[in-house]
Amino acid sequence: MTETALDDAYRLLHEAEITLDGRPVGVLAAVDPRWRRDNYRQCFVRDFVPAALVHLANGSTDIVRNFLDTVIEARGLARDMAEHQVQPGVMPASFWVAEDSDGSQRLRADFGDRAIGRVAPVDAMMWWTILLCAYVRHTGDAELARTPRYQQSLRMILTLCLQGSFEIFPTLLVPEGAFMIDRRMGVDGHPLEIQALFYATLECAHTLCEPADDEDRALLERAARRQSALRSYVRSYYWLDLPRLDQIHRFTDEDFDDAQTNIFNIHPHSVPLWLSDWVPDDSGYLAGNVGPALIDYRFFAQGNLLSILFGLASDDQAHRILNLFEARWDDLIGAVPLKICFPALDDGEWKAITGADPKNRPWSYHNGGNWPVLLWPFVAAALKSGRRELADRAVESAHKRVPQDKWPEYYDGRHGRLTGHRAHFNQVWSATALILAHQMLDDPSILQLLPGHSA
Ligand code: GLC
Repeated sequence: MTETALDDAYRLLHEAEITLDGRPVGVLAAVDPRWRRDNYRQCFVRDFVPAALVHLANGSTDIVRNFLDTVIEARGLARDMAEHQVQPGVMPASFWVAEDSDGSQRLRADFGDRAIGRVAPVDAMMWWTILLCAYVRHTGDAELARTPRYQQSLRMILTLCLQGSFEIFPTLLVPEGAFMIDRRMGVDGHPLEIQALFYATLECAHTLCEPADDEDRALLERAARRQSALRSYVRSYYWLDLPRLDQIHRFTDEDFDDAQTNIFNIHPHSVPLWLSDWVPDDSGYLAGNVGPALIDYRFFAQGNLLSILFGLASDDQAHRILNLFEARWDDLIGAVPLKICFPALDDGEWKAITGADPKNRPWSYHNGGNWPVLLWPFVAAALKSGRRELADRAVESAHKRVPQDKWPEYYDGRHGRLTGHRAHFNQVWSATALILAHQMLDDPSILQLLPGHSA
């Protein structure tokens, strides 16, 4: 039964392959014959990540290398976009291969200039860097990263991430919808997922960049300092557990000057009433976002899991986050692993925060839907923290629904029991996440391809 499901997942992975001039360069987001939206016929950088790790684990390195090359090539297309400002270093959210009438192929890319809502794909350059690191670790082909095109890309990414801004904190400030949640969901500012990806990017770029002069050396020093400051900052100010909630509950506000505790002027009544009863004593998690008078108390799965995986969370925090998953299994894993964020914005908030986006109604899609793709970072984080039993349990429940339901993109409902209202079927990262979860359970050394793990 497991084999049939995995065979089917591999069938989908192969069917989804995109070629350019005869070379495989990526995969479509979905192979759904009903094709609701053209953009699912593109290769999204973030969607390709689990496919790339599956390929590396199987020793098929060519497609990953071609993908890395193609993204750099697509980046060059940004120069022709007169109307939009695409900063050097920004990688496209997605690319596709257009056929001209004479049958010749042309690479096209979306930098947010075509995306629904025109959101900025901040995470693409980060995932690209993390994947380059994984490729180099797996193949030992350090030469690829040393080529001028790659060095230039890495330098541009670091320069862009570290450029001066008005900010005084080490976290990275981004606009709305800059990552997997690529619609209005109140995730602008300093969302956790971006901070985890930023942290890993600084580590990878630091390992792969070869300084050519003093300017490069200064850039790398700044990267190292920022990475260390980011780690302490997130570990202290994003962390939420009962003692911290108790402290916030009794915060005095309007502190200034050298005030040590309530530096963001968090108002005690911002703590949702249900939260202190929901977080067990031995658990905790990283908040969704932190800023002036703001703690977003929602639990965002991908941000927490990537923080564990990349070592942004401490070992103790990692352990407690997994305790929370275990204690609140129905809320955070549900019928089909796993919930993208918890809880959903309720009806009133939904209207104000999402702009009444019908796709993001409470307990649907990004607003508390369940996403099979999140299985792979969950399994990876559980294995890294020595909690294999949790990984096994999640994989088992994914098997009960996802293959039979034809690899939906997401599920709806408080416990994720309904197939997503507007979900695509044959969503490729739903299938590759299951393959990758099995590969990691069979051989946890695959984790060493990722930052946060010694090679
Ligand atoms: C949706 C998701 C995004 C994903 C894309 C393609 O827009 O929000 O994260 O990359 O679909 O699957």
